[in-house]
Amino acid sequence: MINNAINALREGRFILIYDFDNRERETDLTIRSDAVTPQDILRMRKDGGGLICTAVHPDAAKTLGLPFATDVFSRCGELGEKEGDVPYDRKNHSSFSLWVNHRETFTGITDHDRALTITKVAEHVHAAMNGGGLPPFGREFRTPGHSALLRAADTLLDQRQGQTELSIALAIMAGVTPAVTVCEMLDDETGYALEKEKARAYGDEHGFPFVTGDEIIEAWNEWKKEN
Ligand code: 5RP
Ligand code: ZN
Ligand code: CA
Repeated sequence: MINNAINALREGRFILIYDFDNRERETDLTIRSDAVTPQDILRMRKDGGGLICTAVHPDAAKTLGLPFATDVFSRCGELGEKEGDVPYDRKNHSSFSLWVNHRETFTGITDHDRALTITKVAEHVHAAMNGGGLPPFGREFRTPGHSALLRAADTLLDQRQGQTELSIALAIMAGVTPAVTVCEMLDDETGYALEKEKARAYGDEHGFPFVTGDEIIEAWNEWKKEN
């Protein structure tokens, strides 16, 4: 299944990433950011319903000047995250970075605006990973905005095992730009996270490969031995 997921990611098709039974127990609709279209945003907000976020490789985040939100907000009185705040992952803070809009967006929230912001973020990540060549990030984007960015942990899955790191590890294995857009799948009937088996069934119905965090970690450990 992992190879199906890697191929789908490469081809710009959706995959479904479930994390772990002892973590969030959530499945994210996941797609490489450089391939995101307005139709993909529509699918994420209708079929996913969670927050549409773009995960970024830590090296690119550093080059582009994208901090962890918690480091910024810790300057706002007590608002920053405190140790233990993330109940399913007490060792780590969230991967949230900034929320941005491309400067050519109108409101920033439409499917068209978000697709523009996300694909342009991917262009900057690509440039940052390949020696630069684009104007500074802040010249093209503004914050606050409507597209959430996530910054993967420095040592990726060794350090943190969220969909942020799982999706970036998959992008590396797929050899695509490590900017990946994710959106949690919520259940319209219960209001809770869509159960794993329901998410898997959705994937089967639509031809989207379903992979778990355990499968990705296993493949990643093998990949690291060979690369
Ligand atoms: C942002 C989130 C999601 O859970 C997303 O999957 C990324 O977070 P994490 O890496 O913690 O799983 O909280 O909407
Ligand atoms: Zn989450
Ligand atoms: Ca998650």
